[in-house]
Amino acid sequence: MSVQRTLSMIKPDATARSLTGAINAKLEAAGFRIIAQKRMFLSRAQAEAFYAVHKERAFFDDLCAFMSSGPIVAQVLEADDAVARYRDIMGATNPANAAEGTIRKEFAESIEANSVHGSDSLENAAQEISFFFSGLEIVG
Ligand code: CMP
Repeated sequence: MSVQRTLSMIKPDATARSLTGAINAKLEAAGFRIIAQKRMFLSRAQAEAFYAVHKERAFFDDLCAFMSSGPIVAQVLEADDAVARYRDIMGATNPANAAEGTIRKEFAESIEANSVHGSDSLENAAQEISFFFSGLEIVG
């Protein structure tokens, strides 16, 4: 197993309910190191660029409107096998299908307002990290 970095976003539904600290506590208890973090508003254009891979999907417009409706917290998480382990602790995309103990089971409101995003592969993690952070902002 090797040390990896993955990109996390705490989404507007979670920042609106002041859940950043609760989510971070869960992440740190699970062994993730939060090695970069910033709270920001995504413009509609930035949300569309981040989620460009989904642009043909029926939910794309609603997703981009939601992701630019309030602040997000972008983070770089570091841990052994971080990409897969973060997807495990996030839980299924639809909180109705998320396992007990996962972030989405505990906090998510719907498939869209599902509280967190995590990269789905090591290659995408590198791309998504560079979307938000310069090397100087990542303190491993
Ligand atoms: P995320 O992991 O950020 O990746 C794309 C997002 O699209 C996903 O989480 C969901 O919040 C959102 N989304 C909305 N509707 C759907 C859907 N029907 N299937 C998958 N993702 C959806």
